[in-house]
Amino acid sequence: IPVDPFDLVIFGGTGDLARRKILPGLFRRYRSGQMPDGSRIIGAARSDLDGAGYRKMIADAIAEFGGDEAGDQDCLSKFLTCLDYVPIDAKGTGGWSELAQLVRKDVVQAFYFSVAPSLFGDLAERLHTNGIASANSRIVVEKPFGRDLESARALNRTLATHFDESQIYRIDHYLGKETVQNLMAVRFGNVLFEPLWNNHYVDHIQITVAETVSVAGRGAYYDRSGAMRDMVQNHLMQLLCLIAMEPPSQFGADAVRDEKLKVIRALQPVDAHHIVRGQYDAGPDGKSYREDAENPRSFTESFIAMKCHIANWRWADVPFYLRTGKRLKARSSEITVVFKDLGHSIFEGDEARHRNILSIRLQPNEGMDLQVTIKEPGPGGMRLIDVPLDMTFADALGDKEVEVADAYERLIMDVIRGNQTLFMRGDEVEAAWRWTDPLIEGWEARNDVPKLYDAGSAGPEDAMMLMHRDNRRWRDIKA
Ligand code: BG6
Repeated sequence: IPVDPFDLVIFGGTGDLARRKILPGLFRRYRSGQMPDGSRIIGAARSDLDGAGYRKMIADAIAEFGGDEAGDQDCLSKFLTCLDYVPIDAKGTGGWSELAQLVRKDVVQAFYFSVAPSLFGDLAERLHTNGIASANSRIVVEKPFGRDLESARALNRTLATHFDESQIYRIDHYLGKETVQNLMAVRFGNVLFEPLWNNHYVDHIQITVAETVSVAGRGAYYDRSGAMRDMVQNHLMQLLCLIAMEPPSQFGADAVRDEKLKVIRALQPVDAHHIVRGQYDAGPDGKSYREDAENPRSFTESFIAMKCHIANWRWADVPFYLRTGKRLKARSSEITVVFKDLGHSIFEGDEARHRNILSIRLQPNEGMDLQVTIKEPGPGGMRLIDVPLDMTFADALGDKEVEVADAYERLIMDVIRGNQTLFMRGDEVEAAWRWTDPLIEGWEARNDVPKLYDAGSAGPEDAMMLMHRDNRRWRDIKA
């Protein structure tokens, strides 16, 4: 959907996220003709740069993080002419009148708060007192959106003082991923799955987001968060919502978000025995979590696995097993729906347990496969085997495969279009914390010590046991 020219102001415009993700993403949108001429991107940060200095910084960033497209020098020079910069004092007065002069009133204005949440209030207030924000304005905020229910509520209140909920775009970049959106297409665009999508046919669901990266370089942030706050409260929770929610009546922002909210509200408290926290140990090719986090006494988890239940009619008694961690054996995010056993096999001598398993690979190698049972070829009688019906998107779509936009660029264009479907609403974020807080308080009160696991493994042994106890097993983590 084409958009009209817009003004995008990036507070924190010299920061890591702006240089690695936001600007290279916008450059790709520009190059593919989706960012109209006449649009402007204004960096605003503390650094004392001028427009030319900023353009140079961003050209370097695009060369480093922009992939192959960065080689298109003609296009890059044109893109850079859309950029400007204002040194700004978020807590003072410096720079605000200059910014007011630059931002146009007659176009959509988006303000990206790529800064610490403690500055959200100052920025929001100054955008108003300096007459920069208008009814056409949208603000974009990033996680961490609070570190518990109380702080999230305070942030929501602060933003609500200056902006209507319809103007606030809380980014969870997992919602911008191609396959995450595909979850909805698969569920609600096919007649095949939805009739089976309930406790009559589903044995359990697994959600794994495994990473190989360590926390080195961001230990100060991570050590105060841990996997629960950093990944589960937001990204895994969003995946869980999309996989478990009721069909919304239409693909509209509030219809979708209302259904997601109901899932979060129906999540049961998790029993302490159903949570496994881990911390990676030093290995031949890397330091331990405690060394990376520069906290020799840290009890923060770099891995978590848990068994959850959603108390509603559809999912009664269907466990959802979630796990995520750093320094695991492969980078692999996958949702697996394991269907129930057949009640009875008509085939003589068929003792094996055959199960249909649908797995949706979010990254890498995006796609789906469905394990189905067929007859083993050959004359040996009616012997059954399980084979995957594989739909790797890159193969299935062939030359139709459009250039897959990075999550950030897709979401930023949605902000400009005014489409909030893939953004978290304030009540959703609060509900997620309301479920998360008691779990964290629980292990803090128990002085829970995370289990050590080897870097390059699938996590602590106890996480395997969490499944084995239920006579189930995790899918292998493989790239
Ligand atoms: C971020 C977390 O939100 O998501 C990081 O803070 C994590 O710790 C990252 O590594 C994972 O994102 P992706 O897109 O690489 O799966």
